[in-house]
Amino acid sequence: MTGTLNAPITAATEIRVQALQKSFGDHLVLNGMALEIEKGEMVAVVGRSGCGKTVLLNHILGLMTPDSGHVWVADNEMDGAPLVDVTQFEDAIEIARIHTHWGVVFQRNALFSGSVFENLALWLREVKNLRSDAITEIARAVLTSVALPVTAVFLESDAASLSGGMAKRLAIARALSMDPVVLFYDEPTTGLDPVSAAEIQDLILATHQGGAITTIIITHDKDLLSRLGPRTVMLHEGRVYFDGSFEEFRSANSEIIRPYFVSMPTLHGRAPDFH
Ligand SMILES: Nc1ncnc2c1ncn2[C@@H]1O[C@H](COP(=O)(O)OP(=O)(O)OP(=O)(O)O)[C@@H](O)[C@H]1O
Ligand SMILES: [Mg+2]
Repeated sequence: MTGTLNAPITAATEIRVQALQKSFGDHLVLNGMALEIEKGEMVAVVGRSGCGKTVLLNHILGLMTPDSGHVWVADNEMDGAPLVDVTQFEDAIEIARIHTHWGVVFQRNALFSGSVFENLALWLREVKNLRSDAITEIARAVLTSVALPVTAVFLESDAASLSGGMAKRLAIARALSMDPVVLFYDEPTTGLDPVSAAEIQDLILATHQGGAITTIIITHDKDLLSRLGPRTVMLHEGRVYFDGSFEEFRSANSEIIRPYFVSMPTLHGRAPDFH
């Protein structure tokens, strides 16, 4: 079991990334990354393709081990939600305990082949140990909140057969089913048509509930940023290069930010020359 952080903290801290370092072979991806996220914030993490956004997320989720540095997260299962260092966790049980209150919408949805219902039921069964009647009730509630059907036919349909927009909704429904206090989205609108993208943006805003939960969105979507107006964090060369409001980001006169910002609208479907 890990200890709690000795340094002064505010009770409001949800996530604190400290001096995070990660290389793959000789490719240095995170180079002293530092980031603090408070409870109730909506934070967008942006930056060029390959700059390390998903790698950062994987460290926060405890799915990757850093070469050095720390990731403190609020343990919302304990009174006062003390910060615990996920880099020191030695077993999956501790990670699972933290994840009880986290919802994650992965970049490629991470739906598995099988029915819509099974995709919703698995985490509730495995992580929350819920029984099937409780699972059915939650499944209907979260599908309703993402405007997907709750019919038996839909619940039994194959998740692999859903359109991109519907699959994203199902991934969001599954994240919501965890009754999360922290919701992570990795590129939730990439590859969607503009109408579906706008609907997902609205859904992200609605699920944030004005700050009742903490929302962290990895995105290249300029429309999302301008509609939701989150705190905007840009990664560059393994660190946080910019951290401020979207308005400040939009008007920043930086030779790193400008070309990225200008290229953002072309990114639906991933411009091939963006690497
Ligand atoms: N498991 C891994 N093994 C080796 N290299 C990896 C691994 N995971 C990520 N990388 C490399 O780390 C870099 C950052 O990857 P990451 O997936 O975080 O990028 P990203 O910022 O999320 O990009 P995108 O916007 O395209 O999703 C890339 O160069 C990638 O190839
Ligand atoms: Mg990524």
